[in-house]
Amino acid sequence: MEIIDGKAIAAQIKSEIAEEVNRILASGGKRPHLAAILVGHDGGSETYVAAKVKACEEIGFQSTLIRFEEEVSETELLNKVAALNTDPDVDGFIVQLPLPKHISEQKVIETIDYRKDVDGFHPVNTGRMAIGLPCFVSATPAGILELLKRYQIATAGKHCVVLGRSNIVGKPVATLLMQKAYPGDCTVTVCHSRTRDIEKYCREADIIIAALGVPGFLKKEMVKKGAVVIDVGTTRVASDKTKSGFKLKGDVEFEDVAPLCSYITPVPGGVGPMTIASLMKNTLLAGKKEIY
Ligand code: GUN
Repeated sequence: MEIIDGKAIAAQIKSEIAEEVNRILASGGKRPHLAAILVGHDGGSETYVAAKVKACEEIGFQSTLIRFEEEVSETELLNKVAALNTDPDVDGFIVQLPLPKHISEQKVIETIDYRKDVDGFHPVNTGRMAIGLPCFVSATPAGILELLKRYQIATAGKHCVVLGRSNIVGKPVATLLMQKAYPGDCTVTVCHSRTRDIEKYCREADIIIAALGVPGFLKKEMVKKGAVVIDVGTTRVASDKTKSGFKLKGDVEFEDVAPLCSYITPVPGGVGPMTIASLMKNTLLAGKKEIY
């Protein structure tokens, strides 16, 4: 059993990007610039956006954080998105989700210029991804594939079970893993809240991607010996052992499941850091105008 060190791989990717930034600047190019819009004060979103800004600083990107209060109107937010679309200094930007209920996330996503959509959420990017064209691939699925690649985990012909069907993780990771490529060429089953007998599918899986947001969902009885388990869950649960008063819990019962696995990602330190690294990679590509 090997624990996949997402934190170390993410650090490696960030240092590769930092070197590239130095090369770009040395040859007179422009420093890549990522902007992030954060609405309200959700604890998780605050943490993620702070981590994204910090990563930009580490690798030499310019970053701009734009904050709105929870009460901001949809029109005001859309106007800001439109302004970023036409700001020549901003290479890419993200709007941190979730948004307050009175704002349509889909409308916001579709207002973002797909050429600056480094989250890869715009229908042009999701559509292009689905048919294997160059595009911004959303950060969590891209990070998962990068882990499989850097650990040289075999995927061709493997049965991959994806738990969860979100637009951000489940759907895109299932799409990518079925593509004629490496990592890919999997036989993919997507399970969700309405799936009957999820356990049966999990027990047959060579690779399980757990992205349900149900802490500790995947138990040892559900995992075949030698399986690869990727845990995307990051639920905040109360803890008296940390300064913040909470800790992150994945969708996998790690202590019980790990001994059965060939590879497994921990929470924290698995997929999470890779999501940030992949966003940085997309921003670099946006800065270099390499995709559009
Ligand atoms: N909320 C949860 N994950 C993400 C992400 O990757 N990007 C954005 N913008 N919001 C999120």
